[in-house]
Amino acid sequence: MTGFPRIKSYMIVAGLCLLLCAGRGLAGDAALPERIILNLTETPFSSQAVTWRTREKGLSPRAEIIPVSDLLNPEIRPGAFPALSTPVALDDKTGVFQHSVVFSGLLPGTVYAYRVGEDPAWSEWNQFKTAQDQPEPFTFLYFGDVQEEVFSMCSQVFRVAFQKEPEARFWLFAGDMVDNGPDDRLWGDFFSALGWISRTMPLVPAAGNHEYPDPRKTTADQRRITSLWRPQFTLPENGPEGLEETVFRFDYQGLRVVVLNGNEKIPEQALWLEGVLSNNPQAWTIVVIHQPAYPISQRKTHTDFQDLLVPVFDRHSVDLVLQGHDHGYARTVSLKNHQPVSEKDKGVVYIISNSGPKFYPPGDRYDHLMARTLSRTISFQSVRVEDNILQYRAYTLAKETVDAFEIRK
Ligand SMILES: [Fe+2]
Ligand SMILES: [Fe+2]
Repeated sequence: MTGFPRIKSYMIVAGLCLLLCAGRGLAGDAALPERIILNLTETPFSSQAVTWRTREKGLSPRAEIIPVSDLLNPEIRPGAFPALSTPVALDDKTGVFQHSVVFSGLLPGTVYAYRVGEDPAWSEWNQFKTAQDQPEPFTFLYFGDVQEEVFSMCSQVFRVAFQKEPEARFWLFAGDMVDNGPDDRLWGDFFSALGWISRTMPLVPAAGNHEYPDPRKTTADQRRITSLWRPQFTLPENGPEGLEETVFRFDYQGLRVVVLNGNEKIPEQALWLEGVLSNNPQAWTIVVIHQPAYPISQRKTHTDFQDLLVPVFDRHSVDLVLQGHDHGYARTVSLKNHQPVSEKDKGVVYIISNSGPKFYPPGDRYDHLMARTLSRTISFQSVRVEDNILQYRAYTLAKETVDAFEIRK
């Protein structure tokens, strides 16, 4: 007798649960947006790219956006942007749908809330801030190779970096974000390690050699960047033909950033770079490329970089070249024509960073060019760009500063 009401209340709770779960289950997990990633566009003061994926196709995937100051105003409806959707085959024989939206017509220096999905499977509301449409001081972060133990070890790097510089405006990755680019599970680890950070912090990725298939297992004509790259990022398509979304440029509050692809077509990129830097109204210029011009490992030097790219960097007084690949840390003194120069000669500073736990034995070929080297260190870097000064700092996992310098104009 006494058990009856209790059973009844259990049934009511179970029934409620079923209803609630069914409400969510109408869409099901297959419709829920995953891997929501912000990327910068060519005009970050007026537009913003977002990419996500779902397991099922969906009827009308889209993104909604509203200035965060209007989010709670019932009179103002969010703007809706239909997604471009594309099916992507994964190497485990399953598939996903990748969706992308470029929000346009945004106001500069404004915090927006956005969400992606469709009824009833929406993401949470996330935020981003557009760039100003003129020079203004800001900070961005730069990471070298993450590549191995991405979930177990690099989650920590990302969390510490976010704590250190929560107001950074974008995160720049110098390539080898995963160990094997065609393996979607490794990208899953990378985006899991980032957690919600990629939903609020725009990523600027450069392509490393590990974003290409293993050369030991593929023929030359199969050496194309992983087919996952372009669907999972939405990057500026303003690079040379055939290198869309791996070679691109954008301007951000007084800084020109040029991302190169050190894996292929270097002569074409040198030519394109010459044009991009000849017509550059920004006070500061940073180039990102995975493979270093002056290696610190025992691997061979990319002589084509030294012959074709370095003269362009020199001619246009690029301020910093941010690199990875050598699984160590190094910063050169100011260089011109492969030689140290004084500050007034406006040379180029080359940095190699390593943000993961894989380390290579160091080589000493270019020790005479180095201002600072570190061995067996995981680091991340902040770069603060102001009117007449650029401040650079490298941090360890313990948030200790292990390298710092400034460039003054
Ligand atoms: Fe690497
Ligand atoms: Fe590499």
